[in-house]
Amino acid sequence: MSETRLTIRRPDDWHLHLRDGEMLKSVLPSTSANFRRAIIMPNLVPPVVTSQDAASYRERILAALPAGHDFTPLMTLYLTETTDADDLEQAFRSGLIAGVKLYPAGATTNSQSGVRDFDKVTGVLERMAEIGLPLLVHGEVTSADVDIFDREAVFIETVLDPIRRKFPELKVVMEHITTEEGVAYAKSGGDNLGATITTHHLIINRNDILVGGIKPHFYCLPVAKREKHRLALRAAATSGDATFFLGTDSAPHLDQNKLCECGCAGIFSSLNTMSCLAHVFEEEEALGKLEAFASLNGPAFYGMAPNEATIDLVKGSEKVSYPPSIPTPDGPVTLFNPGYDLLWKVENQL
Ligand code: NCD
Ligand code: ZN
Repeated sequence: MSETRLTIRRPDDWHLHLRDGEMLKSVLPSTSANFRRAIIMPNLVPPVVTSQDAASYRERILAALPAGHDFTPLMTLYLTETTDADDLEQAFRSGLIAGVKLYPAGATTNSQSGVRDFDKVTGVLERMAEIGLPLLVHGEVTSADVDIFDREAVFIETVLDPIRRKFPELKVVMEHITTEEGVAYAKSGGDNLGATITTHHLIINRNDILVGGIKPHFYCLPVAKREKHRLALRAAATSGDATFFLGTDSAPHLDQNKLCECGCAGIFSSLNTMSCLAHVFEEEEALGKLEAFASLNGPAFYGMAPNEATIDLVKGSEKVSYPPSIPTPDGPVTLFNPGYDLLWKVENQL
């Protein structure tokens, strides 16, 4: 009989969008019910660029936390061509921030303030390498002549590899990798290089977005690729290799902003991610590696201790009922639907 109960250390989410205001209040409980810590993406409008911005955003997150939820937001700053290295160092040393996010300008939602000229951030990257502050990279080029399905592979060759050669001491996380090239590059990178993988990229490929009608709720960036890439991601995530760890990239948008002529990129998955992951790891006969992926490899990369508390994942014969969407005052946000029944439940979900 297959295993029906799995106890693992409480997981963390190493790539998360919480937004602000009413949306923050509506989506935060889905994360804090399941995760002890999360790396909070800084792509608000306007973005989180200074330590002062990060400190006040952190306060707003903590104020929105439901009573009884034990959750620590790990803040990040949004790298711009005018980022101040001293401000960033002070924010890191004080424990306020855990990473700095690099968005190539125009790569994704709210990335207009991102970096266009990489020479302009040399000083900041040098400082980060010196003090051990990780650079979190949205790894896609943005030039119109590169096909959207090739943007990750081209980024690795033309942007990421040169940065890493120039700053070999810099700790880098390749965020939400989606290709076999991403897996191979991350694997070959040594201890200074890590990679997050989302839940949805382990489950959907580009056919799921496009065949039989367009599925806006499966649209995110980087966009899901061919099946061979999904398989490479599954192999990497379930291997136990310390390079790879969970970053859900749960990225809520109101349904009205996804179901329209120019729909936003982003998949909201924080509520059912652990059920989805248990399903995937069981399919891969790798339930024993789920703890490494969701709870151990991330903290090890960031130099933090794993969580002491544990969660129990229990497989029943009835499907776990998750709501199809969560409500916000401005309208619903649809939850990621893996397309099959989820039988694994987090028994002690808060
Ligand atoms: C993210 C968002 O909506 O903020 N969207 C997404 O599709 N993942 C931005 C990002 O992480 O690229
Ligand atoms: Zn993201």
